[in-house]
Amino acid sequence: MKKEIAKAEGKLGVLVVGVGGAVATTMITGVLSARKGLAKPIGSISQMAMMKTQDNKEKPIKDIVPLAGLNDIVFGGWDIFPENAYEAALYAEVLKEKDINPVKDELEAISPMPAAFDHNWAKRLNGTHIKQAATRWDMVEQLREDIRRFKAENGCARIVVLWAASTEIYVPESEEHASTASLEAAMKANDTAHVSPSMCYAYAAIAEGAPFIMGAPNLCVDIPAMWEFAQKMNVPIAGKDFKSGQTLMKTVLAPMFKTRMLGVSGWFSTNILGNRDGEVLDDPDNFKTKEVSKLSVIHNIFEPEKYPDLYSDVYHKVRINYYPPRKDNKEAWDNIDIFGWMGYPMQIKVNFLCRDSILAAPIALDLVLFSDLALRAGMCGIQTWLSFFCKSPMHDHGHQPEHDLFQQWRILKKTLREMIGEEAPDYLD
Ligand SMILES: NC(=O)c1ccc[n+]([C@@H]2O[C@H](COP(=O)([O-])OP(=O)(O)OC[C@H]3O[C@@H](n4cnc5c(N)ncnc54)[C@H](O)[C@@H]3O)[C@@H](O)[C@H]2O)c1
Repeated sequence: MKKEIAKAEGKLGVLVVGVGGAVATTMITGVLSARKGLAKPIGSISQMAMMKTQDNKEKPIKDIVPLAGLNDIVFGGWDIFPENAYEAALYAEVLKEKDINPVKDELEAISPMPAAFDHNWAKRLNGTHIKQAATRWDMVEQLREDIRRFKAENGCARIVVLWAASTEIYVPESEEHASTASLEAAMKANDTAHVSPSMCYAYAAIAEGAPFIMGAPNLCVDIPAMWEFAQKMNVPIAGKDFKSGQTLMKTVLAPMFKTRMLGVSGWFSTNILGNRDGEVLDDPDNFKTKEVSKLSVIHNIFEPEKYPDLYSDVYHKVRINYYPPRKDNKEAWDNIDIFGWMGYPMQIKVNFLCRDSILAAPIALDLVLFSDLALRAGMCGIQTWLSFFCKSPMHDHGHQPEHDLFQQWRILKKTLREMIGEEAPDYLD
């Protein structure tokens, strides 16, 4: 059924948690450059992809649904380091100076607000630009105040909050996360073991009516307390963990094996990575969060319960090795042991020499623009149609997440069509 979608009028404030990071500064520099016609938003679905509508015409997605324009975005955010976005972009060394300098003035104007941070949740980080908060609840109050101030000072009509900050340590879901009431009680009791800083950002965003996106694998909004709160406040939430490189390949290759009924006995994935993200993930507690996210993918695609002869015994290992010389230019290797007719074994090797933040930046932008669209379309809670962008898609109430990239793409387009009151066409799309 066609949705009443409010127009994308006025400015859209995009508050990035970790605004001084590699992904954030790469995304912001790219958007500012695209605005000046200096770069193309390559990799961005919202800016480049086409879709057929019922009149059988192919149109850019941004002409089919009312997305906010790049010119309407105002960037801000928080970081544990005080450097402005220009200094941070230089530090990240993802982009060359010649590509950063044309938007130097705009980047210099983006200074991070002091972060809600707790060293115990990211032990490899030692930032000083942080809030003093007596309790987690106090942290939330300060973040809410930041959001309100930013919105007023910049004349924004709407805000989206995007987590592009470091991965926090792994924590399992517990009773503190079971309901909004129990989470609020834990925040007020300053239960720092169960309430992460990222949960404070998410709670603050939702309380202020701003969609929240989790770009890291943090538990954060993937708990009943947040699902309930997002529903109550009519706010969309999306996540988690940008699906940018190795997992993107996995969610394309695994469906191919399954479609051809080829068996898999092992999948070994390893990476070398030398940026700050790699350094944080070098701590076993933080790596565990990433590992869980990366491992979840293939089991769900292979359905070993249904195909025990093919997938009941897949040995799946994922490694990330911190290796400073490579900086943001991650290198990933996959060895996949498959088997075919009469059980004969074969191997596939994938060697992806990627650029982490170059792949993640357009995903971050698309998640922001589509979450803002969802808000204006009155959609709230977990946005499963945005699973397309996520390594570990959130799902609630016993639903299974969808990992297959092309199924995710279908779901995304179906949702956009539903928004404008169209059916999915019968033809191959
Ligand atoms: N680049 C990719 O391809 C990719 C893919 C999936 C997920 N991610 C995730 O995205 C996140 C960002 O990656 P990155 O390469 O930009 O890392 P980064 O280390 O360059 O940036 C993270 C930033 O977050 C800041 N930060 C940490 N804790 C904070 C807090 N509590 N509040 C405010 N700021 C805080 C850090 O100071 C840093 O500037 C990481 O969690 C990473 O795992 C990245």
